[in-house]
Amino acid sequence: MASPALGLLLLLLAAALIPAPASAIGFQLHHRFSDRVRRWAEGRAVPGAWWPEKGTAEYYAALAHHDRALRGRALAAASSDLSFADGNATVRLSSLGFLHYAIVSLGTPNMTFLVALDTGSDLFWVPCDCKQCAPTTSPDFGQNVSFNIYSPNASSTSKKVLCSNGLCDLQNRTSCTAEASNCPYVVQYVSANTSSSGILVEDILYLMTEDAAPQIIKAPIVFGCGEIQTGSFLERAAPNGLFGLGMEKISVPSILSSQGLASNSFSMCFGDDGTGRIHFGDKGSLDQQETPFVIDKSFASYMINITGATVGNDSIAAILSALVDSGTSFTYLADPLYTKLTQSFKAQVQEQRLNPDPDVPFEFCFDVSPTQTTISLPEINLTTRGGSIFPVNDPIFLFSLQQNEYFYCLAIMKSNGLNIIGQNFMAGLRIVFDRERLTLGWKNFDCSDTTKTTKGGMNSTRANATQVTMPKPPSNSSTQKKLTRSLFSLLLLSSTIL
Ligand SMILES: *[C@@H]1O[C@H](CO)[C@@H](O)[C@H](O)[C@H]1NC(C)=O
Ligand SMILES: *[C@@H]1O[C@H](CO)[C@@H](O)[C@H](O)[C@H]1NC(C)=O
Ligand SMILES: *[C@@H]1O[C@H](CO)[C@@H](O)[C@H](O)[C@H]1NC(C)=O
Ligand SMILES: *[C@@H]1O[C@H](CO)[C@@H](O)[C@H](O)[C@H]1NC(C)=O
Ligand SMILES: *[C@@H]1O[C@H](CO)[C@@H](O)[C@H](O)[C@H]1NC(C)=O
Ligand SMILES: *[C@@H]1O[C@H](CO)[C@@H](O)[C@H](O)[C@H]1NC(C)=O
Ligand SMILES: *[C@@H]1O[C@H](CO)[C@@H](O)[C@H](O)[C@H]1NC(C)=O
Ligand SMILES: *[C@@H]1O[C@H](CO)[C@@H](O)[C@H](O)[C@H]1NC(C)=O
Ligand SMILES: *[C@@H]1O[C@H](CO)[C@@H](O)[C@H](O)[C@H]1NC(C)=O
Ligand SMILES: *[C@@H]1O[C@H](CO)[C@@H](O)[C@H](O)[C@H]1NC(C)=O
Ligand SMILES: *[C@@H]1O[C@H](CO)[C@@H](O)[C@H](O)[C@H]1NC(C)=O
Ligand SMILES: *[C@@H]1O[C@H](CO)[C@@H](O)[C@H](O)[C@H]1NC(C)=O
Repeated sequence: MASPALGLLLLLLAAALIPAPASAIGFQLHHRFSDRVRRWAEGRAVPGAWWPEKGTAEYYAALAHHDRALRGRALAAASSDLSFADGNATVRLSSLGFLHYAIVSLGTPNMTFLVALDTGSDLFWVPCDCKQCAPTTSPDFGQNVSFNIYSPNASSTSKKVLCSNGLCDLQNRTSCTAEASNCPYVVQYVSANTSSSGILVEDILYLMTEDAAPQIIKAPIVFGCGEIQTGSFLERAAPNGLFGLGMEKISVPSILSSQGLASNSFSMCFGDDGTGRIHFGDKGSLDQQETPFVIDKSFASYMINITGATVGNDSIAAILSALVDSGTSFTYLADPLYTKLTQSFKAQVQEQRLNPDPDVPFEFCFDVSPTQTTISLPEINLTTRGGSIFPVNDPIFLFSLQQNEYFYCLAIMKSNGLNIIGQNFMAGLRIVFDRERLTLGWKNFDCSDTTKTTKGGMNSTRANATQVTMPKPPSNSSTQKKLTRSLFSLLLLSSTIL
């Protein structure tokens, strides 16, 4: 499980960057014909960009052309989405807390960072002018991998973000000594004692259009120069930075949309095999399932309401709110749903339940006999507010300790408060965070990297049940033991209070 992911990481790190021609911002690349975009392009004297005066005939002609272009591809996947210049691929790294990571490029000359994608928090930060940061090399990161550290001094496009800046409001403003001093930030995460602090800076984030002629876009964004990290960030979580994708105005999706560079929406698709995709501007498809976000005015986050669940033949009534958080490794549910769902699952599986193991974070684990080649699981669905069904494609975690010795656990943790739809419940779905319509959308989708015909060992064609095919026996059991131990650094990178 670990090696293919790390293999991909190495590939990603080694991959040559897309050659950047003169970064022409084509008119057709924008969803919005806003003055803001025009000023943005003009301010950068982009070769080839043509921006007619608002109100002129050319303006309306251009607008009509734009509309036609949009209508022409309205039902196809939007071709003007953006992804990172280093690619739209994400990879789940078991050695780094089972989160999905992507490679981003920042600054001039550009530097790459491997950042965890977190819908549960807002700020994007990278290790920077380090006073206390994670190490830059470790066997966990892969052989020959050495992470970069950002420094505003080393980038010619870096700009200060002062206390007077409108984005300087997510932290303790009282620690601003003067309007003209650098804007400090502190973000505390739910994982024990886990935080990042430093100053906000502005620099170029390199993005790429996702159409037939990919072009590099240099987006000026505000992010955290993370001088001091604590807790999980010094161990296995996000050692090279965290990419907050939340709703607040400091997050990169908010900045991209406020600059008119992308529609106010993004999607992530996490394949069963641990690879995935991210697309900024993606508003999903007409045939996707949807539910409205439940917005708490005091803290905007991707919260949805769940009105019930089915486990195989069992229907469970429930009313709860849950945070959709890619920065939490495994799903957390509070009672009564937790107990009802786990008991129903236990009653419908064939395997013998194992006694709880203090080293294993999950309560419901089941023994797999050495001769077994498949596991049959009851299908789990969540019903969301409005009636749409959210399928749980991959509810278990399979442990392999020795050759042919397996057990699996229902990968749900009991919560005392907040319910969290974690990274594991997002597998096999393209999930759309439509921030304009304040709607979560999802659809079963094969977003894994390969051209497999079956979905990563899962057989979703069977009614009411999911079958998991046992993987090949591990070739080296000590590697597997190490993998298992790394699971115990469970991550909760939401910045909300549990
Ligand atoms: C990053 O810099 C290298 C040269 O140092 C250049 O070849 C590459 O195109 C740049 N990447 C981006 C996304 O601009
Ligand atoms: C790591 O670097 C060494 C020396 O440059 C090289 O021999 C080795 O093949 C590299 N390993 C990987 C996995 O790239
Ligand atoms: C960055 O440059 C400024 C001005 O030259 C200097 O005062 C500061 O110490 C430098 N910071 C680092 C981390 O090198
Ligand atoms: C904000 O700053 C004040 C004064 O420095 C301090 O007393 C308070 O604890 C800080 N609050 C937070 C949340 O850091
Ligand atoms: C968090 O920090 C406090 C005080 O520094 C310490 O007592 C506690 O053990 C830490 N908790 C964890 C889980 O590391
Ligand atoms: C994502 O990237 C891959 C490889 O660069 C590319 O083939 C694919 O078309 C991209 N996906 C989308 C939706 O643009
Ligand atoms: C779960 O949802 C899917 C898709 O709506 C449906 O086909 C399936 O029958 C549901 N399973 C159960 C057990 O309700
Ligand atoms: C699937 O579950 C539904 C109720 O959720 C039941 O009516 C149906 O008979 C089940 N189908 C199979 C093949 O078990
Ligand atoms: C969402 O669920 C909570 C219970 O967790 C309930 O209090 C709230 O009214 C629900 N909101 C909507 C809009 O259904
Ligand atoms: C689910 O329903 C089907 C058909 O009604 C039945 O054959 C099967 O035994 C039921 N499964 C469980 C676990 O009750
Ligand atoms: C999936 O299930 C269908 C129907 O039961 C079966 O024909 C197919 O061979 C299965 N595929 C795999 C990969 O198990
Ligand atoms: C298994 O891998 C470990 C290092 O991960 C190595 O020390 C050991 O020799 C390997 N064992 C076999 C049988 O290959």
